[in-house]
Amino acid sequence: MQSTLPKHDPLHVGIIMDGNGRWAAQHGLRRTAGHRQGAEAVRRTVEAAGELGIDVLTLYAFSADNWQRPSSEVRALMYLFEDFLSRERDRLVENDVRLNVIGRRDRLRPSIVSAIESSERATRACSSLLLRLAVDYSARWAIAAASRLGTQAAIGPVPDPVSDLTCRIERVTHSVAGVPPVDLLIRTSGEQRLSDFLLWESAYAELLFLPVLWPDFGPEQLATAVEDFHNRNRRFGRLPALAS
Ligand code: FPP
Repeated sequence: MQSTLPKHDPLHVGIIMDGNGRWAAQHGLRRTAGHRQGAEAVRRTVEAAGELGIDVLTLYAFSADNWQRPSSEVRALMYLFEDFLSRERDRLVENDVRLNVIGRRDRLRPSIVSAIESSERATRACSSLLLRLAVDYSARWAIAAASRLGTQAAIGPVPDPVSDLTCRIERVTHSVAGVPPVDLLIRTSGEQRLSDFLLWESAYAELLFLPVLWPDFGPEQLATAVEDFHNRNRRFGRLPALAS
């Protein structure tokens, strides 16, 4: 898939949206109500992202391991996801947001795959923000599948093995090409683990674990997180004075 990313110092934020179930329990509601509020938090967060200088926002919406949840919860999540795609498409275009769904598509129901393809087509020319939703996503699966593709599958000339595998991971996950590595990786709900999310792309990501439950997340929390990120001293293995 062709890249429309800016050429200079893009900011890529990844978010593990955790805590919908606990939010629901705290409010005496069913887990699905927590996921519905979680979808509202997605809308708020996407709207705020562009204004905070974020170029790429990758949200972990459904992991490959989430298929193991009760079928009623999986159904509710898939419904919310499809609903988001159809309802938000025009608003994404208006706000110049390009949508890209990363992960496997062969296990999603055909209507969802159609909705993904339709939203990706409609927003293809948008360039203020690249919103990537990770659905049926597993970083380990992506790395393993990319490794099996064979070097001849790499797109165009590649300078080194790391760039080569990065291209192939983008290809097997249906990602837009040329996405920069993750700069800031946020997980909500107080848990401190990566849960198979963007393991390859987060090699030098700054990690931020926030106590807030995902349905309570929004522009204010995102702004504070970005500010925290800009105060970090990133060295990429070099000495401080030499690192950009
Ligand atoms: C983790 O919370 C969250 C998920 C597994 C699903 C994330 C889904 C959404 C935010 C809503 C739908 C998304 C879109 C893009 C419309 P959890 O259920 O594991 O919470 P818990 O750890 O408190 O039980």
